[in-house]
Amino acid sequence: MKILVVGSGAREHTIIKALLRDGEKHELLAAPGNAGIAADAEIVGLDPTNPKVVTEFALASEIDLVIIGPEAPLVAGVADRLRSAGIAVFGPDRAAAALEGSKAFAKEIMAKASVPTGMAWSVSDHVELMAALERVGAPYVVKADGLAAGKGVLVTEDLDAAIEHADFYLQHGDVLVEEFLTGPEVSLFFISDGTRVVAMEPAQDYKRALDNDQGPNTGGMGAYSPLPWLPKDFTKNIQTIIAQPTIAEMSSRGTPFIGLLYCGVILTDDGPKVIEFNARFGDPETQVVLARLTSPLAPLLLSAATENLAASPAPKFSKDCAITVVLASEGYPENPHTGREIIGLDKLDKFANVSIAHAGTAWDGTTLLATGGRVISVIATGATFDKARASAYAALDVIELEGSHYRSDIALGVD
Ligand code: AMP
Ligand code: GLY
Repeated sequence: MKILVVGSGAREHTIIKALLRDGEKHELLAAPGNAGIAADAEIVGLDPTNPKVVTEFALASEIDLVIIGPEAPLVAGVADRLRSAGIAVFGPDRAAAALEGSKAFAKEIMAKASVPTGMAWSVSDHVELMAALERVGAPYVVKADGLAAGKGVLVTEDLDAAIEHADFYLQHGDVLVEEFLTGPEVSLFFISDGTRVVAMEPAQDYKRALDNDQGPNTGGMGAYSPLPWLPKDFTKNIQTIIAQPTIAEMSSRGTPFIGLLYCGVILTDDGPKVIEFNARFGDPETQVVLARLTSPLAPLLLSAATENLAASPAPKFSKDCAITVVLASEGYPENPHTGREIIGLDKLDKFANVSIAHAGTAWDGTTLLATGGRVISVIATGATFDKARASAYAALDVIELEGSHYRSDIALGVD
């Protein structure tokens, strides 16, 4: 298959590495990719959020399948244009990607489909905001309605901080004030062809920057899979009460969701509730979910893209424990320092069961530079989480990047 992967993060690098493990040999292209992806796929320099440019390239290059990694191209309508040009694309149209692009829209769909989620109030000015904050009380959960690069959500006990955050995002659009929910969080991915869904394996993400869930929210600092503490019927239950009704509601509106429905779920005392939907693979959860995938990825995604998931065998996963730890630049997430040299990746070959996925990296001549907040995902597998942790952290020890930081408690105590 000739496959174009759109995006430039560790998620896309992980997808490409999984495609390389498929029995069939694919021709892989990536737009715009990064320094790590360049070793595994042909780099195409184009604007990944420009529907016309991506579609013209895919047509001219006779691409069999386009896999869209990040949310921005989806919300920009890249999948719509590819699909109307007759190209198989794994990723929802703009109208369906609104499940991620607008938190108020996601709440509306969940209400219609009777999907369990916290209560929320959409506010469009300061007066409505104050009334909503008073109604819910502390801790306050305030979310920008639209995409905000992972910075739109604030959970705080501090009323002034909640007001300041909300007032800032009210300049750009609506804000959601949500009921505060407590419990462990789980990320569960479903592949959908618009009517059916197939579950991947659950993973847990570590969103805060520092150990013990301290510090600011980030795009994700690490993850692990499987989650041995989950009830046995968890995945089936989430499929029945969340994924399937959501997909059915989208289809009945004439905006079928074809791609990956990421269900961010919190296990409350009242049962699982949706904390967010994303319209794409999660990062860094993809690194651990795909590390355990033992069946081919491309035919699965193609069968979803061609609305024929029923014809594809269910994905298979190993029982291995997989963890990923994100190496981040100094100052991430607020103000990452970039442009520094990364040293030591050439020494990682000696680590069995360890792989890396590049996120923010680029070559400057012969020097590998960190170009983003999240720089590299180190992924390790083992028979236990302790073994996987030992491998991942030993590998991180040999990577040098001035000022960089990572969490040391990923999957700690899970065995
Ligand atoms: P989101 O970007 O919506 O995933 O939110 C980022 C993080 O904020 C989540 O992973 C949760 O840890 C936290 N969060 C979001 N919504 C709530 C909520 N309603 N109650 C408690 N914590 C929340
Ligand atoms: N890891 C959270 C996300 O991908 O949005």
